[in-house]
Amino acid sequence: MFDKSVYVNRRKQLIDKMSGGLVLILGNEEAPANYPSNTYKFRQDSSFLYFFGLNMPGFAGLMDVDSGDVCLYGNDVDMDDIIWMGPQPSVKDLAASVGVTCSAPFGKLAGVLKEAISHGRKIHFLPPYRYHNMLLLEDLLGIKNYSSLELIKAVVALRSVKEACEIEQINLACNIGYEMHVAAMKHALPGQKEQYIAGLIEGIAASYGSMVSFPVILSQNGETLHNHDHSKTLTVGRMMLTDAGAENNMNYCSDFTRTVPVGGRFDQRQKDVYNIVLACNNKAMEIARPGVTYQYVHLEVCKILAQGLKDLGLMKGDVNAAVAAGAHALFMPHGLGHMMGLDVHDMEDLGQIYVGYDDETRPIDQFGTSSLRMGRKLQPGFVVTDEPGCYFIPALIDQWREQGLHKEFLVYDKIETYKDFGGIRLEDDILITENGCKCMGDHRAPITVEEVENTING
Ligand code: GLY
Repeated sequence: MFDKSVYVNRRKQLIDKMSGGLVLILGNEEAPANYPSNTYKFRQDSSFLYFFGLNMPGFAGLMDVDSGDVCLYGNDVDMDDIIWMGPQPSVKDLAASVGVTCSAPFGKLAGVLKEAISHGRKIHFLPPYRYHNMLLLEDLLGIKNYSSLELIKAVVALRSVKEACEIEQINLACNIGYEMHVAAMKHALPGQKEQYIAGLIEGIAASYGSMVSFPVILSQNGETLHNHDHSKTLTVGRMMLTDAGAENNMNYCSDFTRTVPVGGRFDQRQKDVYNIVLACNNKAMEIARPGVTYQYVHLEVCKILAQGLKDLGLMKGDVNAAVAAGAHALFMPHGLGHMMGLDVHDMEDLGQIYVGYDDETRPIDQFGTSSLRMGRKLQPGFVVTDEPGCYFIPALIDQWREQGLHKEFLVYDKIETYKDFGGIRLEDDILITENGCKCMGDHRAPITVEEVENTING
């Protein structure tokens, strides 16, 4: 946990941003896996962590915007709990540890809210994403589906700009991610099972007391963007794409992707495409800075991709026109990146449109670019992923060719010869600084052809 002053300050800032009423922030409950007492690893709600810091189930925080009062609701353990779980701090002590002086049993919350509603006061809450909390909100407030846009916008404004203590935590998560990716590379050998490597790197994340920040994506069929099928045995001539990150003990995330040749040597065709994707990744880091929109960075990166593919004879015509038309999306049908913090897709539960866009920057409704999660103007303290890719997806190639899509920009006969290629994605996590950006983690995971080959062979 951070020092209690961090949480006091965050709550004060939130209250200052709100016009009135009560702000209810629900923590998460345990989620049963296959029977009630066999639960998934507990994951606290990120906004509850942000404002109340307590990483345990059974709590809700209430802030009175008009009086400034804050109260923590939760139940003290009983003897039965102590027998099974050991001694536990009281709710009062837990509240004090995050600078809250009022605490009450969870059962009191409903009455307090009903009383406020009877006086016409507004209860602000964030969009629930777990069924338990959807039902709880219905019970507590007698309503469904009415989260507060005012609260969403205030929370997004605060959580988007990472504090120094948060940047330190993200950096620690990135260092775990570095170790996971180097380990994956060292095992990218013919005959190795994908499942073994996926498990190995998940274990590295868990061994630091944390877990993976999302289910590991690892496959020699990297053309499937989020491939969770780890059933294959690695074979020479393929590349292994690993998209994985860690959540550290404070629940801050990392998210990296590396693509490496099985056996440790890229062939010329792989090297050519790999270096285009690397140039895309580097281009984003070169131009991302405060005041520039990430939508602009995405489109500039797409131009590097299109130019590289034109140089290889896979695309043709004017590169700017090709990107404006969306022809490059055959190879990169996703966005350049997303925000990252307490969630790997930070605050996605609050609504991507509020996290990644604003009145000034609106999403572009075009295949590929429409998947860009983060488009708005960058500010110092934002942490975003930089994850360009180039994929040869046989079904998509067939569909576009059949429909004659973008024939003026795509050299379909040549593209056909890459249908056995797979896909490459290279992802780093970047912090927007006062004048530009920096790659997070103490070391950038091996990324040049030489670094990757040396890591696997060394
Ligand atoms: N790196 C996985 C994702 O962004 O969804």
